[in-house]
Amino acid sequence: MLKQTLINATFAGAKILKQYFNGSFTVSSKSGINDLVTQADKESEEAIFEVIRGDYPNHFILSEEAGELKMDSNIKWIIDPIDGTVNFANGIPLCCVSIGVEQAGKMILGAVYNPFMNEFFFAQKGFGATLNEKRIRVSEKDDVMRSCLVTGFPYSYLDVPNGPLQVFEKFIRQGIPVRRLGSAAIDLCWVAAGRFDGFYEHNLRAWDSAAGFLIVEEAGGKITDFKGDYYSPYQPHIIASNGKIHNDLLLAVNGKWIPVTP
Ligand code: IPD
Ligand code: CA
Ligand code: CA
Repeated sequence: MLKQTLINATFAGAKILKQYFNGSFTVSSKSGINDLVTQADKESEEAIFEVIRGDYPNHFILSEEAGELKMDSNIKWIIDPIDGTVNFANGIPLCCVSIGVEQAGKMILGAVYNPFMNEFFFAQKGFGATLNEKRIRVSEKDDVMRSCLVTGFPYSYLDVPNGPLQVFEKFIRQGIPVRRLGSAAIDLCWVAAGRFDGFYEHNLRAWDSAAGFLIVEEAGGKITDFKGDYYSPYQPHIIASNGKIHNDLLLAVNGKWIPVTP
């Protein structure tokens, strides 16, 4: 039942994305001029809420635009009504709806749907991860020098030691491809599907990664914070990988990686 509600909610949000994509909608700024929220973000969120509340009126909801809607429940729905809003606002079809379901502090279900590629990623704790109902697994590459990586950058410049630009530069100087898709949820799912070997980002929020992190884990990948500790979506740092290159990514985000040229 929870699973069906999750699927229905994800598709209800995605319907709004399709309805507005490349059409006209209002756009406004949040924390900075390029941190955007569109009419579609808000309507997608409402459509998702309607499905969840219809089935589970007493569940806790944490959603990017509405914030925390606290309830006395041990089930929490963690929602990004559009992940990749800047892409969406520019007509770039790399955006999705992302919803994770947490029970007693543990992520038990995750769904990410990009309606423009018709890719539905799903995971249930202990039951593996799927893309359009087919099992997916992380890649097998064990050499970071031959890997294809992905990352993202915050909306305002993060001036910290080993910040996003320094880590990016380290990899780029070695000729390692590091992509930047603009949707952390899709980045994570593409690690799960073996398209990327690793992903790291310095400043995510719970709704960006709640679903994707379970999907990577259930696809056999590894996810930690920048200390190498078990990942919590309530702190900003993430490294997600196929497991085999994880240690090199961990060293890189801490400024300690020494490339070994083959
Ligand atoms: C953003 C995207 C982007 C990441 C940012 C997020 P939004 O989410 O996931 O890839 O780099 O940190 O804030 O604003 O499109 O929901
Ligand atoms: Ca997001
Ligand atoms: Ca968003």
